[in-house]
Amino acid sequence: MCGIVGYVGPASPSARPLEVVLEGLARLEYRGYDSAGVALVTGEGLVVRKRAGKLANLLGALEAAPLPPATAAIGHTRWATHGAPTDTNAHPHTSTDGRLAVIHNGIIENYAALRRPLAEAGVPFTSQTDTEVVAHLLAAAHERTGDLTAAMREVAAMLEGAFTLLAVHAAAPGTVVAARRNSPLVVGLGEGENFLGSDVAAFVSHTSSALELGQDEVVTVTADSVRVTRFDGTPVEPRPFTVTWDASAAVKGGYPTFMDKEIHDQPKAVADTLLGRTDEQGNLQLDELRIDEAILRRIDKIIVVACGTAAYAGHVAKYAVEHWVRIPVEVELAHEFRYRDPVVNEKTLVVAISQSGETMDTIMAVRHAREQGSKVLAVVNTYGSTIARESDAVLYTHAGPEVAVASTKAFLAQITATYLLGLYLSQLRGTKYLDEVAGYLTELARLPEKIEQVLAREEEVRDIARSMRDVTSVLFLGRHVGYPVALEGALKLKELAYIHAEGFAAGELKHGPIALIDTGQPVIIVVPTPRRPTLHAKVVSNIQEVRARGAHTIVIAEEGDTDVEPYADVIIRIPATPTLMTPLVAVVPLQIFACELATAKGLDVDQPRNLAKSVTVE
Ligand code: F6R
Repeated sequence: MCGIVGYVGPASPSARPLEVVLEGLARLEYRGYDSAGVALVTGEGLVVRKRAGKLANLLGALEAAPLPPATAAIGHTRWATHGAPTDTNAHPHTSTDGRLAVIHNGIIENYAALRRPLAEAGVPFTSQTDTEVVAHLLAAAHERTGDLTAAMREVAAMLEGAFTLLAVHAAAPGTVVAARRNSPLVVGLGEGENFLGSDVAAFVSHTSSALELGQDEVVTVTADSVRVTRFDGTPVEPRPFTVTWDASAAVKGGYPTFMDKEIHDQPKAVADTLLGRTDEQGNLQLDELRIDEAILRRIDKIIVVACGTAAYAGHVAKYAVEHWVRIPVEVELAHEFRYRDPVVNEKTLVVAISQSGETMDTIMAVRHAREQGSKVLAVVNTYGSTIARESDAVLYTHAGPEVAVASTKAFLAQITATYLLGLYLSQLRGTKYLDEVAGYLTELARLPEKIEQVLAREEEVRDIARSMRDVTSVLFLGRHVGYPVALEGALKLKELAYIHAEGFAAGELKHGPIALIDTGQPVIIVVPTPRRPTLHAKVVSNIQEVRARGAHTIVIAEEGDTDVEPYADVIIRIPATPTLMTPLVAVVPLQIFACELATAKGLDVDQPRNLAKSVTVE
């Protein structure tokens, strides 16, 4: 939540700092779009421009009244926590003399206590944010020390909560100083220029060379130097990494929305996540796992911690991993995990799934698990992110940057990666014969092609969605791995089209929810392959049950499955797929359905109301 960008360039002022920062904000706008603002260090001192609403409002204001050339700039896109989304509460916040500006992502929990003495001493506060106090504290510390880095160290050490802070001062025209605790920040290394961003998407079009920053660190960035220290001043050697994301992956590429594009990226996201993970003999080779094989052989339980869509990927994985590895897999919403005193120990493998790698709830669950002695394996999409850094090992999903707020391709990549993990563990622990593992890998390798087949029929799904633009409630049913797919389908519809939607395990219907069925109630049912006859027959019965009570049934069924035809008002066909692989094809029409229904209602598909990608507050 909240996107942060910083840039420092050559000593002679130019338009580039503003251009780089605005481009970075456009790439990070998915992190919040309540307001946007920039601060520039120019030959004429510090200038700030900020506007409530989406970045487009700020761009309009900048066009109407252009800013002078600069040497350094910072920019912010906000997801409001403290204070309404107004121009005044927009970041950057400035000191009273207007010479210092600061931007912030996170929540400063002790801001009221810090603000009180300042207000009593007559410092004028203009906003309702928790951030403004930092501007005043930094200005006072800077006045005393004459050094922005020293001021940042001093102030950061006083703060409680989560923060990434970036500050500039008119007296230090070629410098941006930043601090981080529990909120993300990465540095991009250019030639004669350097970058800062909440994540690498902010600067991926300028450099692929980056530095990770650790917890409680301050970084001072100039055009040709990056200096990192801890809050107490101890120097730190930051860890370099190379960004493998292709900059073109973060543009719409001819699609009307990022979500449309990312839905179409899915065959590649699955293929890339599978790529290079077997040796010449076809054995799975997950070198990045870095957890001692002896430990992986000893574990007696897996707990998946994740939120939202990532948790549904975990639900899907539970079915496959338990089947392949024969150890229990629990799936826990990360925000519930640490508050319920979970039974975790050194024989538990905790798997944290996260696209952003910055979800605060999941970070806290990771920390709790490690404190209890568990090994934590992260399944993460974003390089250099906090969850990747703080876990014992990382299995990266190679979905590329996901810009639309609602997750699509990351979900498929997460299922793929957790399947690889399950197969790897079964290979390691001998619970499946190698040829069985190879068989599943072959099935996984066929999925990109099958997803293409689903995409080839997207117009049929879009027609169905358009015909339903006035519905007010949709129910989703599934059994076995179809159940988490139903949950994900309902989540997509809620968040994109603002329509009441609920996913149910099909078998649970008779235990209560069937009372919701009335004439015309749309129900979308995910049907398993007829090659699992018992499972299939049960779901076909469930379709009949809702149809008999007047439901309008939209059935997602395999090609050639004729059993569903008498009970389906509409059928969406998917290619024949083994049961455990079905989620990777069955969820795609549900994504298209939600995307098109939202579009038909004239809604912003990429930036649904109230949401932000990367939920960095608890
Ligand atoms: C829904 C969605 C969210 C995220 C959740 C976890 O479309 O995107 O539910 O899946 O906030 O985010 P990550 O995966 O970044 O931890």
